[in-house]
Amino acid sequence: MGLGNVGGSFLFLLEKNRVLAEGKAGARFTIKKILVRDLAKPRPVRLSSNLLTTKAEEVLRNREIDVVIETMGGTSPAKEYILEALGQGKDVVTANKEVLALHGREIFQKAAAFGRQVLFEASVGGAIPIIRPLAESLAGNQICRISGILNGTTNYILTRMGEEGLELETALRLAQEKGFSETDPSDDLEGRDAARKLAILASLAYNTVITPEDIHTEGIGHLEHRDLALTRRLGYSLKLLAQVIRRDDALELSVQPTLLGRRNPLAQVNDSFNAILVEGDASGETMFYGQGAGGLATASSLLGDLIEVARLRPLRQPRLTFGRNGTYRILPSGSLPNPLFLRIGVPAGHGPGDMGALFYRRGIEVRTFFLDADEAVVITGAALAAEGRAALSEEKAAVLRQILRVEEEGSAGTGLTGEGKERDLPSGVPRGAEGRASDARRH
Ligand code: NAP
Ligand code: HSE
Repeated sequence: MGLGNVGGSFLFLLEKNRVLAEGKAGARFTIKKILVRDLAKPRPVRLSSNLLTTKAEEVLRNREIDVVIETMGGTSPAKEYILEALGQGKDVVTANKEVLALHGREIFQKAAAFGRQVLFEASVGGAIPIIRPLAESLAGNQICRISGILNGTTNYILTRMGEEGLELETALRLAQEKGFSETDPSDDLEGRDAARKLAILASLAYNTVITPEDIHTEGIGHLEHRDLALTRRLGYSLKLLAQVIRRDDALELSVQPTLLGRRNPLAQVNDSFNAILVEGDASGETMFYGQGAGGLATASSLLGDLIEVARLRPLRQPRLTFGRNGTYRILPSGSLPNPLFLRIGVPAGHGPGDMGALFYRRGIEVRTFFLDADEAVVITGAALAAEGRAALSEEKAAVLRQILRVEEEGSAGTGLTGEGKERDLPSGVPRGAEGRASDARRH
């Protein structure tokens, strides 16, 4: 279902590596039907014309079809088609993170009821194997933190803006030409695509249902060239970071532009590459890196899943699922302190001392401070963004032009990866009382 950038690349790859894939699967793969919207649209792959259809029932009700590969995108009708396919006894392989992030629970319940597979390695991180490693290989760990660069389009844009000084619109156009972006590129730019992927990873890691609504989400639209230039000058990389941090029975989930320190392993992940750092209580840090977007990279994961589905066909119970019985409270965004990067318009007649004093008065350490043109550039010690804003509000003439989170290292402090990294909830957030009261949930 779907023959666009990803579906077309999947078909190309299946033909290219068919012998190898069938050998590994121990099965023959035959394309029976391909669902599209527009029969007249030119296709990049040669096809016999009777394969294409615009009638979903020719796929969903076709008894000769065992597996549906869904690459249409969106939630409707993708959700209805996936549910119908499972109900008809078909396995499903999908690249669609949106439908899983929003309707994963219903889809996996149906898969369980009908004893069928839903495999979705392609939904997060393009070619990177992360779904099965997280769901299976690392299943014996308490996951302390997952940090990731999960969107190839924004990572490509930030790299091109930072290295070549391109405007955001120009860099986006290039990303679109390369087939990295979503059909609606605001899903990439505003962080929604990364939030959907983080929801899937967190749901797997914590065996609960996390939806994008649980995730504080900011995009890259408010970043300026100046932020990228200053960031580089200070020795940081500016990335759209997706992150879940667990503190006891609470999770803080965010997608936001973040300055990464040199020692942070995600700092060197550039262009359309993605990387995911998973920190478990036994494993310590494990890092998964690779091509995060693009038709062929995504097709790699789809074909791997198709081979796996063929192997699992006799099993008649789902290999992967999420959202069963975890209980976690969702912390409100900004509950955990971090160093902050701030750009502040300095009022005429105010010296550096005045600005620094604002933070010191609030007990916020100032690690880096300099004046550049009419701005003070500040990096603080660990503080809540709300505390940083409150400090500045005491000087009416100070204009906050940018405030971003800073992650010096990649570790949340598992006890395995060094001392001094353990971060406590701030004093204003009593343990057991933080988060929305209604977020005490059992799934
Ligand atoms: P795309 O190029 O827009 O292709 C979508 C395909 O689905 C088109 O062939 C379209 O038909 C078909 N389609 C859409 N709605 C349909 C409907 N209601 N009925 C029948 N056919 C329908 O999108 P894409 O870039 O391949 O992405 C597809 C999916 O993969 C999305 O879920 C996306 O998030 C995910 N994904 C993309 C990437 C990437 O790098 N692009 C990576 C990982 C995952 P027509 O061709 O006739 O219009
Ligand atoms: N638009 C997505 C990205 C595609 O740029 O990461 C891969 O999921």
